[in-house]
Amino acid sequence: HAEILTFYISGFGNECASEDPRCPGSLPEGQNNPQVCPYNLYAEQLSGSAFTCPRSTNKRSWLYRILPSVSHKPFESIDQGHVTHNWDEVGPDPNQLRWKPFEIPKPSQKKVDFVSGLHTLCGAGDIRSNNGLAVHIFLCNTSMENRCFYNSDGDFLIVPQKGKLLIYTEFGKMLVQPNEICVIQRGMRFSIDVFEETRGYILEVYGVHFELPDLGPIGANGLANPRDFLIPVAWYEDRQVPGGYTVINKYQGKLFAAKQLVSPFNVVAWHGNYTPYKYNLENFMVINSVAFDHADPSIFTVLTAKSVRPGVAIADFVIFPPRWGVADKTFRPPYYHRNCMSEFMGLIRGHYEAKQGGFLPGGGSLHSAMTPHGPDADCFEKASKAKLAPERIADGTMAFMFESSLNLAVTKWGLKTSNCLDENYYKCWEPLKSHFTPNSRKPAEFN
Ligand SMILES: [Fe+2]
Repeated sequence: HAEILTFYISGFGNECASEDPRCPGSLPEGQNNPQVCPYNLYAEQLSGSAFTCPRSTNKRSWLYRILPSVSHKPFESIDQGHVTHNWDEVGPDPNQLRWKPFEIPKPSQKKVDFVSGLHTLCGAGDIRSNNGLAVHIFLCNTSMENRCFYNSDGDFLIVPQKGKLLIYTEFGKMLVQPNEICVIQRGMRFSIDVFEETRGYILEVYGVHFELPDLGPIGANGLANPRDFLIPVAWYEDRQVPGGYTVINKYQGKLFAAKQLVSPFNVVAWHGNYTPYKYNLENFMVINSVAFDHADPSIFTVLTAKSVRPGVAIADFVIFPPRWGVADKTFRPPYYHRNCMSEFMGLIRGHYEAKQGGFLPGGGSLHSAMTPHGPDADCFEKASKAKLAPERIADGTMAFMFESSLNLAVTKWGLKTSNCLDENYYKCWEPLKSHFTPNSRKPAEFN
């Protein structure tokens, strides 16, 4: 493949304006809805919030396009594949769960694109009342050909793990590589080209949008900085598709398809604050303890989808980037804990510090509400006797967590069909032994 050129505007949630350079002046001046638009385009508003939301949360964009989105044949139900929002497929399971890397189909066996390669792993809540989330795994080997997708149910936060994604959207093109993430918000049409066997994770949230977390005493800068979020610039194709272009819609958890005669990427210009965007995880400015003990992992929050309860997220997207570990007199790996939140973890690359084996790139783990977890026995022994010099942690590694206040149900695909569940996960804690010395406060000698 030749070099793929993509261009971006920088900034999180800004009011932006973009014109395809082939049509200068394509944005109407001074109004949204002129009687006749420049270049004889159609004006279309895409609303991402209620019209009456406060200004700080009001989201919409105006698209100036060759044909309006409404030019299509009726939607018809199509095969669901492994997409589901049925959280009662199998009964609840409080155990620690871990998955081996999810297997990507070989193109010689079966051609699978991004949409047909969606697999729902777990989730909770209700699509119809716009409250909840789903975690999906995508496993694909083929580009979407004359097919696009949009989600009426919520926003997709896409975490590619293997293989880059060239994403065509109504707002322009984005190239998203592993160690970058992108967010495609509710209603936005997109089509994904892939270049190899490709895998990744998706956090879908219903009814809310991702925000940057508040920084409190950290101040005005730090964590994910707004300027590092990149928004595509307007790009259009005026392309007839005689055999029909298929628009796939996820609506109330079900998949539908409609045919139209032209490419949906026919937006010549747009303006607004409701756009897709991407972010490179290398730009995350890590804050951490420089004296002793741990800060809670909330310091690693990249984006949050807030619930209506103050401080409680539907889901947070949290990362564990390369950094220095310098805490004195401290057990440095993550502490043992039980959490009222549900924690789904994935690994983009490298080795996660609390478990050197078993948790592999492209796999995952789920520690549900109040289910105990923490370092494996080997990690505990090593970290308890380690000499506490400043050390690099997680170089070459990027683990992440989708953390939710909801109690997640695992799908049948997750527990059975994927055939990736690691039945032996619990054994990593079995070798933990008592070091209790009731007659002596002296720390144990680990050897
Ligand atoms: Fe945890």
